[in-house]
Amino acid sequence: MPTTGPIGVFDSGYGGLTVLRALVDRLPAYDYLYLGDNARAPYGNRSFSTIHQYTLQAVKWFFEQGCPLVILACNTASAKALRTIQQQDLPSLAPENRVLGVIRPTAEVMGHHTQTGHVGVLATPGTVQSDSYVLEMAKFFPAVTVHQQACPLWVPLIEQGEHVGPGADYFIQKDLQALLAQSPQTDLVLLACTHYPLLEEKLRHYLPAGMKVLTQGTIVVDSLADYLNRHPEMESRLGRGGSVHFFTTDEPADFDQKGAAFYERSVRSTHLPPDELIH
Ligand code: DGL
Repeated sequence: MPTTGPIGVFDSGYGGLTVLRALVDRLPAYDYLYLGDNARAPYGNRSFSTIHQYTLQAVKWFFEQGCPLVILACNTASAKALRTIQQQDLPSLAPENRVLGVIRPTAEVMGHHTQTGHVGVLATPGTVQSDSYVLEMAKFFPAVTVHQQACPLWVPLIEQGEHVGPGADYFIQKDLQALLAQSPQTDLVLLACTHYPLLEEKLRHYLPAGMKVLTQGTIVVDSLADYLNRHPEMESRLGRGGSVHFFTTDEPADFDQKGAAFYERSVRSTHLPPDELIH
């Protein structure tokens, strides 16, 4: 029997759990391994080289655990580390393995959801600085204009559980206004950070009537299902025991408690000290 392994799902912290939730709902047969690098989160304000270094350490760990396929369920890591990992690291590390991100699958479909051809992207400073959405959309929907707004405090607010409090309203309104001021024609807002679905309800409150909101969970799942259909050689390497295991580089009790809001069911994690990622 050939060896099979779980699908690795990575995020700087809790946000990737919104993607994992969609994966487990739609593709429950596979085994999944989740790693949240909570001890070093948020990534959003960090440099290219730091994010590459941290993400590569995580990818190596997933490979050591036997994952043939790793999904960077984090826009910031996808924007600032994925290309280098795919082009520079993977060929010598494990050429038969794959690392996929969340930006390309989102850009592949986003243009279908706008009537006006003006879309708004709300993301971390790192994702915005990288211009990844602008560059990817230019490939798939060159006629669509992408307006971007960095929301530096949204991830820290969510990670601290403050997204439900009144403090969050101030920053949501501020950043949303700055985005919408860029073009009165914007008719679609993308939550381009896997943490942001937790703010969706509050956000909708401040959106003009008729404005569409796009989140990434189902987009990533549709894209993965399509990828596995087209790549049976990868699909056959994936374990099908229906298991889900969680690891965090920070405090497991905290991860389990806060993570449940993202995963929308209970979470039981194991501690992976960041030192064990560095070798
Ligand atoms: N969930 C990550 C993303 O999608 C958050 C990044 C961060 O840690 O700031 O970008």
